[in-house]
Amino acid sequence: MMKSTPSALLDALSAALGAEGVLTGAAVRERAASWIDPTPLEALAVVRPRTTTEVATVLRLCHAARQPVVVRGGATNLVQGTRTSASDLVLSLERMTEVTAIDPVNQTMTVQAGAALQAVQETAARHGLFFPLDLAARGSATIGGCIAMNAGGVRVLRYGMMRELTLGLEVALPDGVVLSSLNAMLKNNAGYDLKHLFIGSEGTLGVVTQAVLRLFPMPQAWFTALLAVASFSQVTALLSLLQHLLGASLTSFEVMWNDYYRLTTTPPALSKPPLRQDFTYYVLVEAIGGDDKLDRQRFEEVLERAARNGLFEDAVLARTTQQRADLWRIREDSEQIERQYHPSFGFDVSLPLSAMEAYVARVRLGIEQRFGREARCWIYGHLGDGNLHINLWAPSLQPEDVDAAAQLVYAPLSAFGGSISAEHGIGLEKKKYLPLSRSPQEIQVMQRLKRAFDPHNILNPGRVFDLDAEDDR
Ligand code: LAC
Ligand code: ZN
Repeated sequence: MMKSTPSALLDALSAALGAEGVLTGAAVRERAASWIDPTPLEALAVVRPRTTTEVATVLRLCHAARQPVVVRGGATNLVQGTRTSASDLVLSLERMTEVTAIDPVNQTMTVQAGAALQAVQETAARHGLFFPLDLAARGSATIGGCIAMNAGGVRVLRYGMMRELTLGLEVALPDGVVLSSLNAMLKNNAGYDLKHLFIGSEGTLGVVTQAVLRLFPMPQAWFTALLAVASFSQVTALLSLLQHLLGASLTSFEVMWNDYYRLTTTPPALSKPPLRQDFTYYVLVEAIGGDDKLDRQRFEEVLERAARNGLFEDAVLARTTQQRADLWRIREDSEQIERQYHPSFGFDVSLPLSAMEAYVARVRLGIEQRFGREARCWIYGHLGDGNLHINLWAPSLQPEDVDAAAQLVYAPLSAFGGSISAEHGIGLEKKKYLPLSRSPQEIQVMQRLKRAFDPHNILNPGRVFDLDAEDDR
């Protein structure tokens, strides 16, 4: 088909979605580029479909017009996955936020992709059920975005990533075909499990429009403690002890290195330090139970045993919901880095626990040698998942130093079989480093899938990897 002009395409989109469904001009610019970037959003238009059929129509028209489309959920992505230019069409899921069905017997929820993670959690809770995925951006991040990115967060240790929590999907393919695969069963080996192609493919193969999510019984009690730990070997021994003694009731094991804890417990951060600020590590531990009294007793016994084994130096236990929230805020307030130290660079790596201490020492040394003794490095993460977040800043740091910084953080990973992206994905920001974690054969297969699903490369083009120029449109 002939390439149509942008205005012919916009007319066709308006005819299909109604005037409210297609924003242009000032209505686009009054939106922010992303959660952290307040500059005006740039786009040919923002289209706001209300149904799966409308999403499919948008894609069919854009496929015919060879129009690049960038999908947008909560725009909380950390790898520039939603960045656009003035010639992109933004496909926003903001009007597709309904919980379509909730099934307490089978413990599933069917939900439209634009629903916020927190809304999903709260809807499940109203039915006595639990949707376990959790991350600091819960109020804005959408379920569709979490699926597209295979989000992780703070309970992966117990419940897995988004991949493990997604039973079925409905996806609009780049050519406008709707693939309805709304499986609601835990077991279904009838041929290929196609949902896995879309989960974590960062919106490059299709637009998630609906999902069937796996729910769990709502935990009846939460036990949360912040522990101060002196050495890394004690951190890993503590994790091992808790896993052995608490088993599946251990839901989170989050570690903050000293600098991170100091940052998020010192003004202008709002949290106060519940433990002294001079310990090497701080571990936020959380477990669940079915009985507040009995299981709390067990949790405290296990911590006492850890104390007898000399695995931590000091501890504070949350006694109330407010105290629990206060402890979590210390861990979740990573925004302090970007707010107080700009520009800073953030990395999200995974590697075996056994290699982590040596790895961190090497990265810190490299950063100090390259960016000077005043360089700051904040390390925290989901230690139970082998996942570290490393953020750095130095007085002299310029945006163009990002490559040098990335080399320092990424180069030591390959020796340990680590990954340059544990849970944040690749987006636009990390694609040049993808070959550090994926072989040429792996990348070629990804590109073959992309071409098969999206022959004109219209959907989230340039995210994850580039295609050769001749593939484009
Ligand atoms: C976190 C985000 C940065 O763990 O992944 O806080
Ligand atoms: Zn994280």
